[in-house]
Amino acid sequence: MGRMDKAVLFWTSAFIDDAYPPSESQPVTTYKPSALFTYIERLQAERPWGTFLDAGTGINSIQWLSGLETERWTAVTGAAGDAERVRSATDATRRPQDQILLGNWAKADLLKGEVFDTVLADYLLGAVEGFAPYFQPYLFARLRPLTGRVLYITAPEPYVPSDKPKTPAGRLVWEIGRFRDACLMLSGGMPYREYPSGWVIDQLKRAGFAPRAMERFEIKHGERFVNSQIDLCAPGLSQLTDHGLANALRARGEALRAEALDIIAGAGALAHGHDYVIAAEPA
Ligand SMILES: C[S@@+](CC[C@H](N)C(=O)[O-])C[C@H]1O[C@@H](n2cnc3c(N)ncnc32)[C@H](O)[C@@H]1O
Repeated sequence: MGRMDKAVLFWTSAFIDDAYPPSESQPVTTYKPSALFTYIERLQAERPWGTFLDAGTGINSIQWLSGLETERWTAVTGAAGDAERVRSATDATRRPQDQILLGNWAKADLLKGEVFDTVLADYLLGAVEGFAPYFQPYLFARLRPLTGRVLYITAPEPYVPSDKPKTPAGRLVWEIGRFRDACLMLSGGMPYREYPSGWVIDQLKRAGFAPRAMERFEIKHGERFVNSQIDLCAPGLSQLTDHGLANALRARGEALRAEALDIIAGAGALAHGHDYVIAAEPA
């Protein structure tokens, strides 16, 4: 029995700096694993990573996984831009057996029949809405036959569909999230849709997984979070035919940015919300 087989489901808390969303521009040389990945390494302990599936890849997860001793890895994304960024980020480390796949988990033939020792769903769940709306309840059942030994999930607890937070930092994070999602909707995209850890545990059990461990990490949002969320809106706003609306939204984004960066300059971060990591094994 591996160490995790004996683990019980538990909750603890820790701090994580600027965890969400992962930066696309973090240079490889300054890469430092996040607290979430460090926690996963602790859970994995001495067990080999073996064959590894990064089921929702991006710069953060691929940088982490490129430094692990894997037999081979497969990195899946639904976005051509992410596939390209992951390709260039791994130019120096990618081996012939490693592969980057552009695909959609809603398509039944993606990696059909393959099994990986370790599967990572890093901020995948919340992004599914943009690629396969309504597919979230099927995601873990979809990943179940692909999982040989362990599935690790990282995600933020929902923070946009909540009552207005009382703290200035919480209110700003909430407003930035709502602003981002409104821009995405107005420009023809889909918003992020995060799910609570309790929902994930329930879905994992239904999908034939046994959840083994969970930890929550308090998020301290920094400049990277603020800038990336507001900058994410720019391409969509430039496509709006109503220029007055686009300009008003741009101005709102800049006002939020200024207010948030001001608080960060004083307090160091916008402390609000939690990320969680869940480890589950085939039941
Ligand atoms: C927020 S990003 C994940 C962050 C990433 N792990 C990192 O380190 O930067 C979400 C990823 O999941 C992928 N994704 C979301 N829904 C998907 C789907 N239905 N099928 C395949 N990939 C999907 C996105 O294309 C993207 O690569």
